[in-house]
Amino acid sequence: MLIHPPRFWNMMARSYARRPVGNQAAYEYKLDFTARHLSPQDRLLEIGCGTGTTALIHAPNVAHIDAIDYSSEMISIAREKAKEQGVGNVNFEVSAFDCWPIRVKDQKYDAVLAMSVLHLVLDLDEALERVRGSLKEGGLLFSSTVCLEGMEKYAIPALGAIGLLPKIRVLSQEILVERMQAFGFSVEHKWRPENGSAAFIVARKGVGSR
Ligand SMILES: C[S@@+](CC[C@H](N)C(=O)[O-])C[C@H]1O[C@@H](n2cnc3c(N)ncnc32)[C@H](O)[C@@H]1O
Repeated sequence: MLIHPPRFWNMMARSYARRPVGNQAAYEYKLDFTARHLSPQDRLLEIGCGTGTTALIHAPNVAHIDAIDYSSEMISIAREKAKEQGVGNVNFEVSAFDCWPIRVKDQKYDAVLAMSVLHLVLDLDEALERVRGSLKEGGLLFSSTVCLEGMEKYAIPALGAIGLLPKIRVLSQEILVERMQAFGFSVEHKWRPENGSAAFIVARKGVGSR
């Protein structure tokens, strides 16, 4: 791969922070759905948190959030925003998801947020295995994933495939659901805005799965 993904996201961070959300109504739908499933005592993990917008919105709904991203620039912006907003229960950390420790028993998370990130991880199965390991039994995964099925030859996945952009996995919603089920999740909610490329999938870690 020619491009180094964390460096790419470092370069993008300031412009990403300024850019308005692509589909505000869809973003609000996902925020609202997620918030309705959170409790004040919950501990959350957000992977690929970017500039921290989503974690900071959910902060008042939960006890604690660990929000991680492998881009140090994204995390600097997220920390600036937390300070400006006076939010004290979000721990923003620079970390790749595959380096974030899997906690033992009662330190596992009640929910994991993966917004616009599962199509970017190098190994989807490994990421799902780590999400499962991070969650308590019955814990929820909230995910929004760009699904570009049939669009392999379009510019963004094609440039990713030759290493000029971070690699984007070309997924369909069906494959994502199938992989989640293979890792012991039961899919409780699927939603995709009309003409939208991102699939919002909420899945629960099955009782008895590791
Ligand atoms: C498209 S942005 C999404 C940011 C944010 N979740 C949002 O919805 O606005 C993807 C982010 O995921 C981060 N990322 C990608 N793969 C990652 C990984 N394996 N571990 C940690 N962060 C990752 C990138 O640095 C980038 O900030």
